[in-house]
Order: sequence, then C-alpha cells, then structure tokens
Amino acid sequence: MRPFPLFAAALCALVAAAPAVMAQGEVNIYSARHYDNDDKLYDDFTAATGITVNRIEGNADEIIERMKAEGANSPADVVLLVDAGRLFQADQDALFRPITSTTLNERIPAELRHPEGHWFGFATRARVFFYDTEKVANPPQTYADLAKPEYKGQICMRSASNIYSLSLLASIIAHEGEEAARAWAAGLKDNLARDPEGGDTDQIRAVASGQCAIAVANTYYFARALAEEVDALTPADGRDRIGWVFPNQGDRGTHINISGAAVAANSPNSENAIKFLEYLASDEAQQFFAAINYEYPAVPGATVDSTVQGMGTFKADTLNLSALGEHQARAQEIYNELGWK
Ligand SMILES: [Fe+2]
Repeated sequence: MRPFPLFAAALCALVAAAPAVMAQGEVNIYSARHYDNDDKLYDDFTAATGITVNRIEGNADEIIERMKAEGANSPADVVLLVDAGRLFQADQDALFRPITSTTLNERIPAELRHPEGHWFGFATRARVFFYDTEKVANPPQTYADLAKPEYKGQICMRSASNIYSLSLLASIIAHEGEEAARAWAAGLKDNLARDPEGGDTDQIRAVASGQCAIAVANTYYFARALAEEVDALTPADGRDRIGWVFPNQGDRGTHINISGAAVAANSPNSENAIKFLEYLASDEAQQFFAAINYEYPAVPGATVDSTVQGMGTFKADTLNLSALGEHQARAQEIYNELGWK
C-alpha cells in the first residue's frame, strides 16, 4: 500500500484496532475537514448515540487514493469531502454507496444532494467578488461581468486546475452552454491582474495590498478574516477597503458549493454511517458544522454564524450540484485550450 505520510500514525492506530473497528457501535470517518472544533461535533454524536467515532484526516486526494488502495477491505464508513466536483470524482471511482434516508431527503434541499443519494451537502459556501471600494466604482454584478473589457487588468483568481475554478466554469457551462462558457473564460483570462497563484485568501489579500482590484473567492475566507486575525488581512492591511458582491442576484443567483458527505461503498458499519449523516442534518449539528468554517448551514432555518450573517443574505443558484461534476472534464478542457494557468 502507498504510504500516506500526513496520517500515517492514524493509519497504524486504525489497523492495529481493526477487530474492534468491525464491532457494533463504531463509525469510521475519513475526513478532508480538519478543524480543532470538529472534536465537539464527534463527541456530541457519541454522547447522543453511544457510537464511537474513529477519525482519519487527510486532504481529498489522499483520502480518495487511500480508499482505492484499501478496496473492499476499507474500514471507511463515512467520507467527508469539500466541493461537489470532488464528491463527483470520488463517486466516479465507485467509492460511495447510494443510500435512502427520509430524514436526509426531507432536510437537505434537493439541489445540495446527489439525485440518487450518493452524497449529501451539509454546509454551503458562495463564490463571490471582493473588490477595492476605493478603486472600483462599479463592481461586477454577475459572473458574465468579469469577462467585460472594463475590468481589464483588475481581476485575481486562483488557478484553473483548482476544483473551485473548475466548478465555477462547470456551472457556467450548465447554465449558458459550452460556447458561452468558453468566451467567458477567455474574457476573464484577458482581465487577470496577474497569473493565477495562491489560494482564495491570497486573492483577497491581493485586493487589500492593492495588487488586484477585484478577487474571486469563497465567502468563508473573508468571514474568517473578519472573525479571527488572518495574516495580511487585518484592518491595518487594508481589509476595511474591501467590499463584496453576491453575483447574479437579478437572475439565477450566486454560485454555491458544499462541504459534503457520503457513505463509503464498502462501509462495514453502514447503519451507523447513515445515523452520522442524519445527525449532521440535525439543527444543532448544522449550526455547528457550518459555523466551524464560516459556511452556511445546508438545512433551511438552521442558525447561521453571526459573522457570516453580517456579510448579508443572498439568493443562491439552485442548479443541482451534481451538474458541476458532469461538466468538470469539459471545464478543464476549456481552461487548457485557452492556456489558463
Ligand atoms: Fe477552501
């Protein structure tokens, strides 16, 4: 088996405990989320159900590769991944088991889950525009606006190979077709202030520092900077000059994505796995799960973190997020054809 350095220690622990893992009363979670506060979520689940949680963390690629390597012997019960595009990739690799849960189908809006129960979204994030209020009098109001010549040399975005960029272009393919999406990606490339580099926080930092006038990034990166001290994104760094726009409020709504979860294809404790997913859809877990990463709860009516609330409400795109996976390969081809970095 390939080594997985990031969680090698955890792997050893899990293998050593293999017979116990198969016993009733446990659930094994492979998670691409790793926040300190996640512990409370798992502890609360154990307190409510008596089911012990064994957790392994790594990045999405590590988790997917690991599950492939483990094959039918994988102890994974629940898989937590970020972005519908990644959930699609794992699903294509047959790593998930479709499940039917009335609770999940009633609580999670249809657009935030796979149509046949392969995966479910438990928190959402919006991909929005952050802009320098001192430089940009008329910020873009739609994704289409990003490709207009008036924003030439102003926009910062992360690389085309990043899953967030792929999912955004996939949503445009789904709504407007391939030709329009290609023209959009070409126009946006012409408007870049610099070659794509860094993560979402780096794009917002570049607005604060004056390198870019407009950045495309997920909401939670900015909310985190408002609620915590994020390096190079404090008021002293120019953060207070930054305004934001929820795009496409006049038509289809803002492009969103999810933190999602699925039951693993070879789950040895699948009943407990379903219980865990249903627990994640409870009001209390929803509030907490979303707030940890400054996201929006997937379940309507669940409490939104106060900092996130402070960024305002918006109309979200209701495109079924499985479409992001379906158009992912074409999105990558379009970026490649255009020479996107
Ligand atoms: Fe992120």
